[in-house]
Amino acid sequence: MTDLAVKLAGLSLRNPTLLASGILDETGGSLLRVFKSGAGAVVSKSICLLPRDGYKNPTIVELENGMINAMGLPNPGIEEYVAEVAKAVKAGAILVGSAFGKDEQEYASVAKEFEKHGAAAVELNLSCPHAKGLGLDIAQSAGAVEGFTRAVKGVVKIPVMPKLSPNVTNVANLGLAAERGGADAIVAINTVKAIAISTELRMPILSNKYGGLSGPAIKPIGLRCVYDLYAAVDIPIIGVGGVTTGLDAVEYFMAGASAVQIGTALRTRGYSAFRLICKEIQQFMEKEGFKTIGEMVGLAHE
Ligand SMILES: Cc1cc2nc3c(=O)[nH]c(=O)nc-3n(C[C@H](O)[C@H](O)[C@H](O)COP(=O)(O)O)c2cc1C
Repeated sequence: MTDLAVKLAGLSLRNPTLLASGILDETGGSLLRVFKSGAGAVVSKSICLLPRDGYKNPTIVELENGMINAMGLPNPGIEEYVAEVAKAVKAGAILVGSAFGKDEQEYASVAKEFEKHGAAAVELNLSCPHAKGLGLDIAQSAGAVEGFTRAVKGVVKIPVMPKLSPNVTNVANLGLAAERGGADAIVAINTVKAIAISTELRMPILSNKYGGLSGPAIKPIGLRCVYDLYAAVDIPIIGVGGVTTGLDAVEYFMAGASAVQIGTALRTRGYSAFRLICKEIQQFMEKEGFKTIGEMVGLAHE
């Protein structure tokens, strides 16, 4: 018998698939629907302290093997969003809150609110401009990754999971910084910085010009980041980026991930993505004689 259940960073999940942040997570109802459709856990959209408008349209460009988005992190602010968190948690969902902000204090305050309203863990979206105005994302500075992680660890008891960016020279160094800051797990990766040009208009399509590439096109980049992180850190890794099938998930396990998140694939496979991907993982395990997910983690390093 195969067993899809996983334990990571103190969380017990019925299977290793999580909803990625920013997709189908506007309301408690949609989060719950994703959980009930088979996800092991759901990650909320990224939330800061006060309401925030996103960028003007166009915010999405569809490509053959993925998409580029520049939503601009629109959200209603934590005070309003916690009602959605509470709704999903009360109905039985395992929810990870995704926090961001302008400085360490804001991350810590948002994380605390998520914890107060029943989140099982908090993910830190570090892909926002650095508070000190260096023009860098937080995720691009080892010192900032360590400091922001430590600041949140100082105020919550639930697991803290910084989400790293692939838009760096050496992702392993950033993983080590997160580990030094006390991270319980690492999530990798966020989207890959990209651009699309309208040949008719002779200008970038997105209102923000730059966006983040996601979907099948970035799977090899996500796998490379997880592979490098696994060789460097001792904490669990959650792999994200282009997971569309069970075999994609297995590739992430073998690279070193203990679980995976799924985002863009929901556009093609819908709510049934989690159930289908779990079934495909199980079929692979039965064929190859694996009994647990853990047996596959890091195999590509041996
Ligand atoms: C429309 C859209 C919105 C997103 N919003 C967020 C967000 O609010 N916070 C975050 O950490 N990641 C966000 N992401 C990134 C995803 O969580 C994920 O890291 C990325 O899309 C790669 O996974 P995928 O290829 O399975 O989509 C967003 C992605 C998309 C496509």
